[in-house]
Amino acid sequence: MEVIKILREVSNKIYENVKDLAGTEHAAGDFGRGAGGDISRNIDIIAEKTVLDYLKEINFECVVLGEECGRVELSNNPKGYIIMDAIDGSANAVRGVPFFCSSLAFATENKLSSITDGVITNLANGEMYWASKNKGSFFNDVQIKVHNKDPIYKIVGINTSGATTNLMKRLHPIFENHNHTRHFGANALEMALFARGLMDVFIDLRDKIRIQDIAAGYLIVKEAGGLLLDSDLNPLDADLSYETRVSFIAAANQKILDEIMSQINQ
Ligand code: IPD
Ligand code: CA
Repeated sequence: MEVIKILREVSNKIYENVKDLAGTEHAAGDFGRGAGGDISRNIDIIAEKTVLDYLKEINFECVVLGEECGRVELSNNPKGYIIMDAIDGSANAVRGVPFFCSSLAFATENKLSSITDGVITNLANGEMYWASKNKGSFFNDVQIKVHNKDPIYKIVGINTSGATTNLMKRLHPIFENHNHTRHFGANALEMALFARGLMDVFIDLRDKIRIQDIAAGYLIVKEAGGLLLDSDLNPLDADLSYETRVSFIAAANQKILDEIMSQINQ
């Protein structure tokens, strides 16, 4: 089976297994700290187990890099890496805020830039965003592109969760300049909305985001024609290690990137 089909199939299984759990006490059960450093909740564990069980069932030879389970070698002869954030937006999922997703990507090497396939599934409703390298990005069965026109309302997504005072001071002009700023609480799904053209820019300059949270979004944004840059405005890339934390800016085109960058205090 093609890798993208495997990722789509197992994403549907995650949706089936967690769709009635969000906001329940059962979802919140505490399993201690996972490999990514946050508390693993029952809903995270159920979603990850869905993926691990399925990959074992179909004998998919890979190394899984999961946010909770850490590195799991499913073969001595792996074809590559599955980068798994089985629940992105765990706080929303546990509280029942309907904005959380799964993020699954496949990479042939230990680098973001070697990702060949990515799937983000909105677990509040089962909608799916997916991409394979050089084949475009899709929302369910429809090809998507970033919003490349002058927007009627400029929507600027900014992750401000846990941002330092210094970062908030740098970003302040963006808030002040009457951009329509948004922050929903699940980076992967926000990248997917950006790729679909529902936001014009998405910024996370906190130096906190893990590879698992952005791996699928990385490919979906690029295949939808978005610019994806690091904080020095170089093309975003990073290794897949658990220590890696990144900052990034996704912009629909150079004009809107320049406009937003001119509003960020250095
Ligand atoms: C979190 C979400 C959130 C971001 C956090 C991430 P998680 O992922 O992506 O938007 O602000 O930094 O940790 O922990 O829910 O998988
Ligand atoms: Ca997670």
